[in-house]
Amino acid sequence: MTQRVAIVTGAARGIGAAIARRLGADGFAVAVLDLTAESGADTVAAITDAGGRAAAVGADVSDAGQVEAAVAAVAEKLGPPVVLVNNAGILRDNLLFKMTDDDWDSVIGVHLRGAFLMTRAVQRFQTEQGYGRIVTLSSTSALGNRGQVNYATAKAGLQGFTKTVAIELGKFGVTANAIAPGFIETEMTAATAARMKMAFEDFKAGAAAAIPVRRIGQPEDVAAVASFLASEEAGFVSGQVIYVAGGPQD
Ligand SMILES: NC(=O)c1ccc[n+]([C@@H]2O[C@H](COP(=O)([O-])OP(=O)(O)OC[C@H]3O[C@@H](n4cnc5c(N)ncnc54)[C@H](O)[C@@H]3O)[C@@H](O)[C@H]2O)c1
Repeated sequence: MTQRVAIVTGAARGIGAAIARRLGADGFAVAVLDLTAESGADTVAAITDAGGRAAAVGADVSDAGQVEAAVAAVAEKLGPPVVLVNNAGILRDNLLFKMTDDDWDSVIGVHLRGAFLMTRAVQRFQTEQGYGRIVTLSSTSALGNRGQVNYATAKAGLQGFTKTVAIELGKFGVTANAIAPGFIETEMTAATAARMKMAFEDFKAGAAAAIPVRRIGQPEDVAAVASFLASEEAGFVSGQVIYVAGGPQD
């Protein structure tokens, strides 16, 4: 059998990089997609150094032209993509009364429009092959989180997106699921601590104390679930939202 191809968006660092490395170890040829191809170099090196196959691709997932070109380039370089991980994300936190139009539009643009554009581009290859796995990063913030009306809306929207894609593409052998992480240690959560003028260590300790398993999550905790959802044996799991938060969702 030829090697299956996976695209992971926002794979230059954090959760996306961990998922890309894990899928590389699982035997996928991995397209490491991020805003620039250069930024994906470390993730590509980690995969190839471990004996895997990977290529970096630059694209802004909220730009239709760049998404089409990037997915076509992946198909050309690595082969037709069958696994898509919609992971790229940004934060523009603010209380509603202070939130700007740009805070709203940019967060909705990257998460919601980005997942839509990427999924529409990749499903063509998946339906042609009668096989596919789509994994999209939601968040516990989908349930509501102070200061994140834009992000919570986008992450809740991605749950509806996932269920609808699961319904539409199931007959083509394609599953769609979402992972909703709680607190994961990445540059995104480090930036949140900095914005709140807290030392990251104190911020992490405070979060861990409120989590049933008494620790914060690591990118690898999310990658393990993504690995299962991207696998062939997960074929009867579709339209689900799996919370990876060290306890039940609120
Ligand atoms: N860290 C957490 O606690 C946490 C919790 C729940 C959900 N999530 C979600 O997991 C995903 C990854 O989060 P992270 O903590 O690794 O974030 P991160 O900020 O460390 O990494 C995000 C990556 O996405 C890329 N990216 C941003 N905008 C992009 C665009 N328009 N096009 C292409 N790439 C783009 C960035 O360049 C970066 O490499 C995000 O969707 C985030 O919302 C994170």
